[in-house]
Amino acid sequence: MTLHDTQRAELIAAAQQARAFAYVPYSHYAVGAALLTTSGEVITGCNVENAAYGPSICAERTAVVKAVSTGHRDFSAIAVVTRNAGSPCGICRQVLFEFAPQMQVIIADENGDIRAETALQDLLPYGFGPKWL
Ligand code: THU
Repeated sequence: MTLHDTQRAELIAAAQQARAFAYVPYSHYAVGAALLTTSGEVITGCNVENAAYGPSICAERTAVVKAVSTGHRDFSAIAVVTRNAGSPCGICRQVLFEFAPQMQVIIADENGDIRAETALQDLLPYGFGPKWL
């Protein structure tokens, strides 16, 4: 799927805004994510850390859990914003893959400069998903 310029810009802006809510007292590495559903809704998330470290959740998974728990399972894209355009972690790639292997992943820095825009299945080649079960 090809994103329109306005959709891409809107998604990055939403991820930048969500990033401001990141709860990151331990890593100080704030992440914002914005999912685009196939019906056009934008659902955001940020990372939420925890004093026990292990329970911390990434921004991408926050967005997916918000989306799925409000009835949205079909995604066409996600924008992820960090200070230095860091990539989505392996766990988040897997969680996104469950719902939309073909979705576009936009990786941008805090200024909105895009480092990569690619299909999720290229970030997680030969990924394991529902069709194998
Ligand atoms: N983080 C995310 O939110 N998404 C990723 O894909 C990579 C890592 C978070 C987890 C932790 O709160 C902080 O970034 C540093 O790892």
